Amino acid sequence: MDSIRIIGGKPLEGELRVSGAKNAALPILCASLVADGQHTFRNVPDLRDIHTTAKLLRHLGAEVEVAPPLVTVNVAPVDEPEAPYELVKQMRASVLVLGPLVARYGRARVSLPGGCAIGARPIDQHLKGLEAMGAKVTLEHGYVNVVVPSGRLHGAEIRLDIPTVTGTENLMSAAVLARGRTTLVNAAREPEVEELARVLNKMGASVEGAGTNVIVIEGKESLEPVDHSIIADRIEAGTYMVAAAATGGNVFLDAITLDHLEAVAAKMRQAGVIIEREASGVRVVGKPPFIPTDVATAPHPGFPTDMQAQFMLLMCLSSGRSGVTENIFENRFMHVPELNRMGAKIEVHGRVATIDGVSGLSGAEVMATDLRASASLVVAGLVAQGTTLVRRVYHIDRGYERIEEKLAGLGATIERVKGDA
Ligand code: EPU
Repeated sequence: MDSIRIIGGKPLEGELRVSGAKNAALPILCASLVADGQHTFRNVPDLRDIHTTAKLLRHLGAEVEVAPPLVTVNVAPVDEPEAPYELVKQMRASVLVLGPLVARYGRARVSLPGGCAIGARPIDQHLKGLEAMGAKVTLEHGYVNVVVPSGRLHGAEIRLDIPTVTGTENLMSAAVLARGRTTLVNAAREPEVEELARVLNKMGASVEGAGTNVIVIEGKESLEPVDHSIIADRIEAGTYMVAAAATGGNVFLDAITLDHLEAVAAKMRQAGVIIEREASGVRVVGKPPFIPTDVATAPHPGFPTDMQAQFMLLMCLSSGRSGVTENIFENRFMHVPELNRMGAKIEVHGRVATIDGVSGLSGAEVMATDLRASASLVVAGLVAQGTTLVRRVYHIDRGYERIEEKLAGLGATIERVKGDA
């Protein structure tokens, strides 16, 4: 298992190109299953989750070539629309094939993803929506079996209890081939949902309202393959914005959409970080100590849970006390004990972390069990005095393309250590 070794204390400086969005690419690749033929996707990040999705699509009869940033998917009909445990356990986003498969074949068998490090993460809302569209859902042997007795889903009005992101994406992808109109109420509003709608519409679907909490989909008889370039990753961008500020640096992020990061930018500015739009991107300049700033995670357009760990790191370098409330996942504070081992002063009570700013961090051997927590530890390592070894970087490789190369390009002393360091 690889590790990342960092010698901290250098301000990040220079220019950075943010990769395509993982959480847009995953649902889009899965949604390609609704249209037979050759799809071309551009600006796809080179990440472990993309390779896992490719394996899954191949298992579902598609020919997939992954040559990031280019990915081609040639979709052909399959006899067994099934996502096996072997692949779903590697990546819970595999559940995103459920909606497309049921739409295309009137049936699907997908392994239940189960819980993960950050929470229980049920998929009841996905299943409730499919049932409203005429599917029969049974759970057996760890699999969800979905069958549409009439062979084709029908439109329905579906009110989600929670604005679930992948749930909204699954139901949107299911509804594009359903008979009639589907209305998703209390839909997720994330930019990745909008991006999926854009792609489905390019395929010939009729999806309106994505980006608001009511999405209306008119089902079509069939759809066409697409050629599409994926939006920049707002969470990768936000992570580098925090890294720039936390190290007292000055970094220009090329071609990112600051509108997708409004809540993060607002909180960073409140904390004293300078974030300026320039002609083709965004410049971030910061220097600790930061102004103590409270955040509470919420569905988009609120503060994203995927930036919570990184923002907390920033608050470790503030001049006072701040609070971070995690409202989306029940167990997303795994970075806290590790940051405390590096000299941070954070206490957790339930969903709330209280952070007392410190004047610096010290390098240590650390490890985390989720992607964003690991990212916050890498940023902590950039700030800390001495050497930090972040173990189990396979979590980072799920979501950050060539993180050590990108940070080294900004002047960090960072290297990947192969195997069990
Ligand atoms: N939930 C339910 N029932 C459902 C669906 C969700 O109770 O049927 C709950 C979840 O357990 C959670 C909350 O609703 O407490 C929100 O979960 P959501 O379904 O919105 O999350 P997700 O779709 O599984 C996506 C991202 C996550 C990101 C969350 C929240 C993808 C592939 N994943 O997950 O990204 O944290 O939305 O924004 O899009 C990451 O990239 O590191 C990551 C974890």
